[in-house]
Amino acid sequence: MSRHISAMKFSGILLKQKLQLVQSKQVYQAYKFVNNIQVYTDQQQVSNIPGLRGFGFSLGNSSSEARFRSTMASNKEKNDEEKTSDNNDRAGDHLKGIVSYWGVNPPKITTKDGSPWRWNCFRPWETYKADTTIDVTKHHKATTLMDKFAYGIVQSLKYPTYMFFQRRHMCHAMLLETVAAVPGMVGGMLLHCKSLRRFEHSGGWIKALLEEAENERMHLMTFLELSQPRWYERALVFAVQGLFFNGYFVAYLVSPKLAHRIVGYLEEEAVNSYTEFLIDLEKGLVENRPAPAIAIDYWRLPPESTLKDVVTVIRADEAHHRDLNHYASVS
Ligand SMILES: [Fe+2]
Ligand SMILES: [Fe+2]
Repeated sequence: MSRHISAMKFSGILLKQKLQLVQSKQVYQAYKFVNNIQVYTDQQQVSNIPGLRGFGFSLGNSSSEARFRSTMASNKEKNDEEKTSDNNDRAGDHLKGIVSYWGVNPPKITTKDGSPWRWNCFRPWETYKADTTIDVTKHHKATTLMDKFAYGIVQSLKYPTYMFFQRRHMCHAMLLETVAAVPGMVGGMLLHCKSLRRFEHSGGWIKALLEEAENERMHLMTFLELSQPRWYERALVFAVQGLFFNGYFVAYLVSPKLAHRIVGYLEEEAVNSYTEFLIDLEKGLVENRPAPAIAIDYWRLPPESTLKDVVTVIRADEAHHRDLNHYASVS
């Protein structure tokens, strides 16, 4: 009997401890939730947090502005920063909201000369010098049925695109990059999931494809410095991304080799369209304005660089993507 009572007492203690654990977990979750709100409220980006939409926060800062601020030092931000005495925190005002998060401070990043790093969307160690010696005329001859099918798809997409944009290179480039940044992310994501699912290595492709996607996104951020999309272009990108993301996702599931071949041919067309861009820049049909600061820092270009230099390095990037995807199609 006494043994039975002891067992009941012991199970009672266990139950109490379990309840305390659950309560402490709940407190922890609530604490985390409140802290997240605090942090993101300071950043004025609550509208971007899933699950917090509709909570009635009014921050007076549109999501588009938040997006803009997250990728570049806008003129407004630059002016604000100039007025601020503390120039050490030039990485963006919103970083002030996360000066200390559970005692963890954001890193202070500086350039080689000691001046503060001004970009949030990339870091100094992600910058590079583009290899402009790459052959921009290379073409993978379609020999197999799969190659011909991939080539046919790209050619059928090419003509309506050229008809729509004609010689509006800036607009063409900007919208092209919104599409070009999708395949790397989809391919990388699917290979990542495959690696987890099969408990096997990826052979380095996940990182390569994600880096390609990031590089394409940086092309877009560069063109955003030079031109802003109109409302109907934003709508077009919205629709095209929905179609292209899902189409490429299915294509990659069915045949990764076919998907990479399609991207290889798309990159060939990207190289061609940038060549046309350069021809019109040389002819003076497009104004050869100074290179945006983001491009100078990202590609380590000389300060006096122009749009022509920027298009040249972007074309070299596209040529590398072309080779990478054609290679991925056979490996
Ligand atoms: Fe690109
Ligand atoms: Fe590309």
